Amino acid sequence: MKRIGLVTSGGDAPGMNAAIRAVTRVAHSEGLEVLGFEHGWDGLINNRFRELTPRNVGGILHVGGTILHTSRSPEFRKPEGVRKVADVLALNNVDGLVVVGGDGSMQGALALSKVSDALIVGVPATIDNDVYGTEETIGFDSAVNTAITEIDKIRDTANSHDRIFIVEVMGRMRGFLALTIGLTVGAEVILVPEVEYSLESIVRTLEVNGAKGKKAGIIVAAEGIGDTHKLMREIEKKAGVEVRLSVTGYAQRGGNPTARSRLLANLFGNKAVQLLLNKQGKMMACLENGKVASIGLKQVCSNEKQLDLSLMKLAQTLAT
Ligand code: F6P
Repeated sequence: MKRIGLVTSGGDAPGMNAAIRAVTRVAHSEGLEVLGFEHGWDGLINNRFRELTPRNVGGILHVGGTILHTSRSPEFRKPEGVRKVADVLALNNVDGLVVVGGDGSMQGALALSKVSDALIVGVPATIDNDVYGTEETIGFDSAVNTAITEIDKIRDTANSHDRIFIVEVMGRMRGFLALTIGLTVGAEVILVPEVEYSLESIVRTLEVNGAKGKKAGIIVAAEGIGDTHKLMREIEKKAGVEVRLSVTGYAQRGGNPTARSRLLANLFGNKAVQLLLNKQGKMMACLENGKVASIGLKQVCSNEKQLDLSLMKLAQTLAT
């Protein structure tokens, strides 16, 4: 192992830069060169990279986004694209590649590992926290904190106006963000794609709360549940109360990584380099029982991470 590559791919997540810094500095301390491929898999297809050194990754630990840029590459989804990436790695004598990204990136890493001579390892980084095999991904904690900062403010105006707010949060088709955010802001209702909801039960909760004198309320809804505008109108009509919608959106993807996201980036970045040095490809760094470990990419890609539904029940109890 002499030269490794590094790529950030898919949706950016706060802490990706911290991971770039960690991989580069640990690799250099072990005598490895690091090539940073730019704009996700597209950079690997088009042979676009810059050399990363301990010095030129300075000053990025606390910065959101990714200095290498990222993309969702349609070309890499085709077998020819994956083949091209393998060729580019061989052309540059890259012995190992660290792929920093979410579930789609891990699928890509696995596909590449089947045709490339380079060893491929993954570092899970996505605000969605939906990667199987790791208790947490880089960026998740930051996105949760960004959302709760906003929702705490919304709570003030909701209380002042005795209004119900639906706050839509990210997470694609999964509810990890919505559930953790809902629990940590004391949401009266949490809606996630994994659990079917009914308009009637939402309205009932609001009515029960209203009867107790609790006129304001926060409904945290994952973007994956569908049309929140429509839901807002339906609740207004059925419950006869004022409802407002606030979409947190892409702000959750940016901003300074929290201490937690930086820590995970440091630990996962180090683990990824150690895996390569030990010649263990087709693996992903992960958090298991609170400790850094590793898991096979095949296992990661053939399983679905489960939402802890007992937390939905707890959230209900806490929001009475
Ligand atoms: O995967 C991270 C994420 O921010 C999801 O929460 C969201 O659904 C998606 O990316 C948005 O993707 P894009 O950046 O392609 O619009």
